[in-house]
Amino acid sequence: MNSKVEAGFNEQIKNEFAAGYLYLAMSAHFQAQNLVGFAHWMRLQAEEELSHAMRLFDYVIRRGGRVDLHAIDAPAGDFGSAASVFEDVFEHEREVTGMIHRLYEVSAAEGDWAAQQELQWFISEQVEEEDTASTAKEQVRLAGDDQAALLMLDQQFGARVARAEEVPE
Ligand SMILES: [Fe+2]
Ligand SMILES: [Fe+2]
Repeated sequence: MNSKVEAGFNEQIKNEFAAGYLYLAMSAHFQAQNLVGFAHWMRLQAEEELSHAMRLFDYVIRRGGRVDLHAIDAPAGDFGSAASVFEDVFEHEREVTGMIHRLYEVSAAEGDWAAQQELQWFISEQVEEEDTASTAKEQVRLAGDDQAALLMLDQQFGARVARAEEVPE
C-alpha cells in the first residue's frame, strides 16, 4: 500500500474511533438526564462509527498495509442543551466528510484507484450521516424549550434501529 495512503487510512481509523468516543460521551450525557431515547440514538451512532473504523481496519489489512493504531483523545465532557449537542453532531459529521474527501484526494494524487473505490462507500455514507444528523438537529431545535415536545422526540429517537449494512457480521 502506498505509504501516504496507508498513513491517511490509519489516521481515519482513529478519526472514526474518536467519533464513536464522542457519541458515546453524548449517550452517557443523555442517560444521566434520563433522556433515554436520545441516549439510545447516540449509542447507535457510536456503534456505526466503530463499524466504520473496523471497515477501514479490515481494508488496510486486505491491501497488505500495516495497521497503526493512534491514541484517541478523550471527548470534551461538558455538553449543553440537547439542541447544542445535536448541533455538535451535525458539525462533527461535516468535519468527517471533509476528512474523507481529503483522503480521497490523497488517494487520487498517489494513483491508488482501489483506495478511491473503497472511499466511495464512505463518501455516500457521509451524505447519509449528514442528512440524518441534520434532520435530528432541526427537530430538536424546533422543540426548543418545550419540555413536552422534547420528551416526545426522546421517545421517537428511542425507536431508531441500526441500518442493515451497519450490523456487524
Ligand atoms: Fe463514520
Ligand atoms: Fe458518522
